[in-house]
Amino acid sequence: MTEPVLSVRDLSVSFRSDTRTVHAVDHVSYDLHAGEVLAVVGESGCGKSVTSMAVMGLLPPTAHITGSVRLGERELAGADDKAYGKIRGKDIAMIFQEPMTSLNPVLTIGRQIGEVLRRHQGLSKKEARARAVELLDLVGIPAPAQRVDEYPHQLSGGMRQRVMIAIAVACDPAVLIADEPTTALDVTVQAGILEVLQSLRERLGTAIVLITHDLGVVADIADRVLVMYAGRPVEQAPVDELFATPRHPYTRGLLSAVLRPGTPKDRLPEIPGLVPSLDTQPDACTFAPRCARADDTCTASRPGFRAVPDENGAAGADATHRAACWHPHTLQETAS
Ligand SMILES: Nc1ncnc2c1ncn2[C@@H]1O[C@H](COP(=O)(O)OP(=O)(O)O)[C@@H](O)[C@H]1O
Ligand code: SF4
Ligand SMILES: [Mg+2]
Repeated sequence: MTEPVLSVRDLSVSFRSDTRTVHAVDHVSYDLHAGEVLAVVGESGCGKSVTSMAVMGLLPPTAHITGSVRLGERELAGADDKAYGKIRGKDIAMIFQEPMTSLNPVLTIGRQIGEVLRRHQGLSKKEARARAVELLDLVGIPAPAQRVDEYPHQLSGGMRQRVMIAIAVACDPAVLIADEPTTALDVTVQAGILEVLQSLRERLGTAIVLITHDLGVVADIADRVLVMYAGRPVEQAPVDELFATPRHPYTRGLLSAVLRPGTPKDRLPEIPGLVPSLDTQPDACTFAPRCARADDTCTASRPGFRAVPDENGAAGADATHRAACWHPHTLQETAS
């Protein structure tokens, strides 16, 4: 297999103030290959955004970050703002939930796309404008030659998100992180944005980290899924395997909530209780208070993030399916 374009190892982030420490991310690891879509899922407050902001070097100085973030050959953990300034928007880029807050209302969209191209690729004004038109076309904006001179308020929410994607991919970054990119949009508009992400992966080979709490979206677009709970990775698997044979009780809860139409997206009736406070790092499974399978082992020691046993009881040799659970569901149970 080729080398990953992004490799995250034991990434931990805590926020320290005078009164408390919040352990927002606790030993997260993943690899991302060219053209691959990794979905990161979990309830609100589980550390999905903070993980990505740490990868992007966008956290405030109160964040204490440990672990490794390798983008190709480069180690990014500990890089300063100047070093990040050279790679952000060029080699790795991020889009957010609310495109309006990220766009400058007083500049045309052509100028905003062009700015990235001029900074990182040294294009002239004229060249940047021409490339901006191409990029608007790439992200599916009709009549791009006219639209390039419009201002953000002249565009719909879906079109603004397409502009954000155009800015993010202007320099053909190896990695695009999309943090809930469709959450603020209507369902019909969401599908169009996901199509754009799909086409980027196919046409440019962009590797994508897609953060979402919508497992329906995951089924459509992801290759692999990382499930996070209370700052920790709890399960990772190829998408079909995760949906067919979820091993961690939390993943099973997430999936059963999705399979019931009408479930509010931010509530999981299948899993009573709430994500715990992140003020402590218990040497225990943090899901235990909500888990029907919890026993003394679960409350006395933290389960490792290990390859799950296959039907013969052996851990898969390639370890593509991992779970942090003392008593993962067996294949027989997941089939029922
Ligand atoms: N700048 C910050 N200072 C202190 N705590 C933060 C900060 N940013 C996020 N957190 C905390 O980190 C935890 C994880 O947040 P986040 O990654 O945004 O969750 P998610 O994206 O999964 O909803 C939350 O408890 C949140 O309150
Ligand atoms: S380790 Fe124990 S409490 Fe945690 S998810 Fe597994 S069975 Fe449940
Ligand atoms: Mg978030």
